[in-house]
Amino acid sequence: MSGIISVCSINALEQAAANLRSGGLVAFPTETVYGLGADASNEVAVKRMYNVKNRPANHPVIVHIARIDDVTYWAEEIPDYAISLIRDYWPGPMTLLFQRTKNAGDFITGGQDVVGIRIPAHPLAENLLAEFRKIGGMGIAAPSANRYGAVSPTDANAVSQELLEFLAAKDQIIDGGPCAIGIESTIIDCTKENPIILRPGAITSEMIEASTGIVLAPDKLENIRVPGSTKQHYSPKAKVLVSKSANPGEGFIALDDIETPTNAIRLISPRTIEEYARQLYSALRQADERQVDSVSIVPPNGDGLAMAIRDRITRASEN
Ligand code: TXA
Ligand code: MG
Repeated sequence: MSGIISVCSINALEQAAANLRSGGLVAFPTETVYGLGADASNEVAVKRMYNVKNRPANHPVIVHIARIDDVTYWAEEIPDYAISLIRDYWPGPMTLLFQRTKNAGDFITGGQDVVGIRIPAHPLAENLLAEFRKIGGMGIAAPSANRYGAVSPTDANAVSQELLEFLAAKDQIIDGGPCAIGIESTIIDCTKENPIILRPGAITSEMIEASTGIVLAPDKLENIRVPGSTKQHYSPKAKVLVSKSANPGEGFIALDDIETPTNAIRLISPRTIEEYARQLYSALRQADERQVDSVSIVPPNGDGLAMAIRDRITRASEN
């Protein structure tokens, strides 16, 4: 393939958009994690994207759009509370699920009648989507740019490590530096009377309540499962343990004020919850690079983003 594009002129994004339109795959940065993009209207391209990821065909993929007006191209029956969420948090780390229109093919919804939509907040993603829209592209289908079940990539190098060997010559990886948030978007089911969080993220339940005026059912992490997804996900090769202790030579991840067990390998020491989210996935990759057998992680306390981090740690530790 043509390698990582690091100089991101508008010209380069225009070319990447044209590439997508003609069936190429383009990995691109968003504020959450990197996505592997394909034209959401092109079944052949989307199928190739699934192959590159080794992802099962019944697992739906998020459609990224350029502007709010385009929601109704893909989705219908938009409730009032979703309009508030869109107004307050798009572009941003939030994916909304709606009833699909006929434009959303089975090959992006995994055969379900529901479609997932997001407008990402990252200048390169927004410009790529705008260029794509100019040439008639209505949406970019993009799952996280990792092999199925692996840790989501939060920089272009990680994308390359995950996918380069499976990409074709015309495919591209756009380098936009490290992702600002570092964990995937909040997924909210908007097909029911009230919003339901299916995957926690940086748009928290407090933020959803503030925007919609609707009090959500209490968060129960064990109830939060995106349909079609297995329990285990986001896993490195090393075994992930939720523990304050670690054997000598094993990896260790915790907030800065927690001491490293004797002779364990400290991977990160985030000082805030935001930093924890930003660094978690690259720390799990680092664990594999250092070939440790296990990583002990002390999950952060609290709700909001801390809960989203605990969700990812729990999934990484399940097997
Ligand atoms: O932050 C993110 O959401 C990133 C960036 C690239 O946008 N994308 C991402 O995509 O994490 P992915 O495919 O790795 O995870 C999306 C999750 C999947 O677990 C999928 O099951 C769920 O969203 N999803 C997507 N469309 C859906 C639908 N129509 N119905 C139910 N779940 C859906
Ligand atoms: Mg993923």
